[in-house]
Amino acid sequence: MIKRNTGLANLKAGYLFPEIARRRREFAAANPGAKIISLGIGNTTEPLTAHVDAGLVEGARRLGTEKGYSGYGDEQGLTALRERIAAVFYAKAAIADDEVFVSDGAKCDIGRLQLLFGREAKVAVQDPSYPVYVDGSVLVGAAGAWQGSGYAGIQYLPCNAANGYFPDLAQLPADGLIYFCSPNNPTGAVATRAQLTALVAAARKVGSVVIFDAAYAEFIKDPSLPKSIFEIPGARECAIEVNSFSKPIGFTGVRLGWTVVPKELKYASGETVWADWNRICTTVFNGASNVAQYGGLAALEPAGIAEMRATIDFYLGNAALIRTALKTLGVSCIGGDNAPYLWAHFPGRASWDVFAEILQKCHVVTTPGSGFGPAGEGFIRFSSFGHRADVEEACKRLVERLR
Ligand SMILES: Cc1ncc(COP(=O)(O)O)c(C=O)c1O
Repeated sequence: MIKRNTGLANLKAGYLFPEIARRRREFAAANPGAKIISLGIGNTTEPLTAHVDAGLVEGARRLGTEKGYSGYGDEQGLTALRERIAAVFYAKAAIADDEVFVSDGAKCDIGRLQLLFGREAKVAVQDPSYPVYVDGSVLVGAAGAWQGSGYAGIQYLPCNAANGYFPDLAQLPADGLIYFCSPNNPTGAVATRAQLTALVAAARKVGSVVIFDAAYAEFIKDPSLPKSIFEIPGARECAIEVNSFSKPIGFTGVRLGWTVVPKELKYASGETVWADWNRICTTVFNGASNVAQYGGLAALEPAGIAEMRATIDFYLGNAALIRTALKTLGVSCIGGDNAPYLWAHFPGRASWDVFAEILQKCHVVTTPGSGFGPAGEGFIRFSSFGHRADVEEACKRLVERLR
């Protein structure tokens, strides 16, 4: 019989979110009257905004007309959208339109990017981190078996209060990959210009590539903080950036993102990564939905950009309420000011114990930090994605019942 892909066999069963859902179900069954509120998920909650909604509707309607119909488009995305993305998001970074590849989302591109480097790639991740970097590496065989608190072959770079949530760059693998997320999921930490400059210098020194996940870049309010790795000189020779319309404008279900691959980025062989990414996009991807792309174009018109800013401000408003509640309780936390997540520290306690206490006493679902990697133990991730009334009620309960 056919053998199972070893990478799949090595992949540990999805634990974090299924386990949270199981505990929530169990609690709801035992407490039928409880109104449970979630501050745990990274899914958006607010409806699409008017201008963007109109762009999507108009895009769909256009397809129903003889003149407006289009079938397959360029796999790399609509030219107009590539131009808008380069102009709106990379004004400080000089990215060419054809270095922007439109996709069906950052997560999907993170999976496909692994095809560029294959099973030989040495992989490093921030610890804690968004699980897809590790799981995708395991799938392509770039990591080995589960070893209790991590996978063989993955280098986990702890990010904690002691190092300002920025990894020790002396630990970067040579000729390998480092996944770096800023603003960070789960910690909400945002790398400074000095930190990203050091990251680029270290990656270039050891011949490694940075896969920079900027899915939350538009939450950055502080103008001194870089929104793209390509704002850093030298990054064009050592970095790829993935990004998304999901969180800033609610396209989590619509599905639209992009990846930037600069033409200067080369393999040891001297060939360009850009040419291979173009090949991958035309081989195992067939372009993002044209309707989603029309919505993306609307989002990047002035009215759409204004709506995007308002959506982000709304979620950051939620984050401010959660931060105040945690402060009232004397719980120290980071994030939530230039990111939608808050990373709260409960020293000396297991994340799952704190999760259970908050669920029992407040009927609020959170995310245990230990689910994002060994360095997340003792932390809880609070998410600001939620309706305002729910967030207010959850904060009230936290303050009243955990005091
Ligand atoms: C860091 C990070 N990158 C990427 C994604 C996924 O983005 P998309 O919806 O574009 O696939 C998420 C979603 O939670 C995320 O947290």
